Amino acid sequence: MKRRRFIDFLLGGGIAGTIITFLYPVLKYIWPPKQSEVIVKSVVAGKINELAPNTYKIFKFGSSPGILINTKEGELKAFTAVCTHLSCTVTYDGDTETIFCPCHNGRFDLKGNVISGPPPRPLEAYNVEIVGEKILVSKRT
Ligand code: FES
Repeated sequence: MKRRRFIDFLLGGGIAGTIITFLYPVLKYIWPPKQSEVIVKSVVAGKINELAPNTYKIFKFGSSPGILINTKEGELKAFTAVCTHLSCTVTYDGDTETIFCPCHNGRFDLKGNVISGPPPRPLEAYNVEIVGEKILVSKRT
């Protein structure tokens, strides 16, 4: 009788272990652990003379992309590069001097305001500052 209980215990443990092995990743997928996000207030987006007039670059602002634009007039402007519609990354269209979202043809002017397309809100504009040779981009307060 003792041996039978021991075998039942082993079988039960094996079955329970198998169930847990299958359920654990499923539950972790459904309820992922909370990640602490680093709050970034300013970044170096590039160096002066890096961008020719009427061009742009995408840079990392914390965990999301930002867009730095050197206008035709040589003015530096920076915005979040995350479209306010469905979060695609925007680009700069030098021909029309607008910020363009390729996903659903959203367009923004150089103040970040929506010109056309489905985006519901303007792009968040950042401050641009030249510090030595660096272009510093920071959140507006
Ligand atoms: S995601 Fe930008 S217009 Fe739809």
